[in-house]
Amino acid sequence: MFQHLETLPADPILGLNQTFLKDDNPDKINLSVGVYQNAQGQTPIFTAVKKAEQELIDAQLTKTYAPQAGDPTFLNQVSRLLIGDTLVDELGDRLEAVMTPGGCGALRMGAELLVSTGFKGKVWVSDPTWANHFPLLQSAGLSLTTYRYYDEATNGVNFEAMMEDISNIPEGDIVLLHGCCHNPTGADISSEQWDQVISVLQERNLVPFIDVAYQGFGEGLDEDAYGVRTAVSKLPEVLVANSCSKNFGMYRERTGVIMVVTENGRQTQAAKSHIMSAARRCYSMSPYHGAGVVGHLLNSPQLTAEWKSELNKVRERMNRLRVGLAEGLNAAQSRINFDFVSRSNGMFCYLGIPQADVLTLRSEYGIYLLESTRINVAGLSEDNLPVIVERVTEVLTR
Ligand SMILES: Cc1ncc(COP(=O)(O)O)c(C=O)c1O
Repeated sequence: MFQHLETLPADPILGLNQTFLKDDNPDKINLSVGVYQNAQGQTPIFTAVKKAEQELIDAQLTKTYAPQAGDPTFLNQVSRLLIGDTLVDELGDRLEAVMTPGGCGALRMGAELLVSTGFKGKVWVSDPTWANHFPLLQSAGLSLTTYRYYDEATNGVNFEAMMEDISNIPEGDIVLLHGCCHNPTGADISSEQWDQVISVLQERNLVPFIDVAYQGFGEGLDEDAYGVRTAVSKLPEVLVANSCSKNFGMYRERTGVIMVVTENGRQTQAAKSHIMSAARRCYSMSPYHGAGVVGHLLNSPQLTAEWKSELNKVRERMNRLRVGLAEGLNAAQSRINFDFVSRSNGMFCYLGIPQADVLTLRSEYGIYLLESTRINVAGLSEDNLPVIVERVTEVLTR
């Protein structure tokens, strides 16, 4: 049966990480993977998460199945964290949430829901977008195409082009938007620009599918939710895929949620039943542990306060590193003005150096970034920053 199977090439991001691990350069630096790292290069467990986990385990009396839609405390708390208490109450039965295996599971369940409606249009994603959006959505049967987003000339969003493209999308299509901390570019739209995008979606009867994987990594928990909150307050139909992998550090626990807002409670219940049916066909129900921990944490004011303070420190550290990189590179060379690096949001940004230099950094110095020039800002550290500045400058000014 398997004699004709050929081994597939590795995923570009995960594959590069494997190459990094095999590299015997003692000075190697990994700026490619999408996980937060502290000054020691570790991805620590948040103290508040560890406490919540211990309390949950101590109190747990059974491992029987959780409700299929997910842990009710988790679903309620995580919806309130993202959408805000007032709006959750206002939306009432127009909003439902289903627990998923991470943000990827949420994206996939959102895609399955769209397919189950008989939707035959296109899903429009930013150019560029997170590489996994394509396989996740296309393999559910959706057809994807792009709207213009990133401008290499300014290393920021080409908002005019984005608006022009979105204004020409056929009515009824889906527009995938990054809720905050755009991956891979780190270039976000402002609150005013969100307002304008949402007005066009409203005028043209377009449905947003908002991917939120970094709430709290950009400007703050509430600030990063601006787009989602505005969309659900203004539009009749919205899908939101939310991941707890980064902001709760739950990566391997596969903790996420798909949220759906429709015109009324009846439609939302129907949508929820289709999501649960899709889940049943794929994996029956989502893993519980991560959701149980996040739900327990958010249900405790004390643990929530502790987690928020830890999350603030993570964000502030990434911001310091980002500014340090921009200032270091600007001081060391004049070929590229790296101010845009300090303006980027979240864990990623493009470095905007020639692709040949990306390969030279990798082969000669063991400094790994993606060929798109995406770097993980959290892969920088107070220790490796001077070395990175020196080597990037050396390669750039050869
Ligand atoms: C833009 C974006 N969406 C969704 C995800 C989903 O992550 P996970 O499935 O690990 O929760 C990620 C993770 O890197 C991401 O960057």
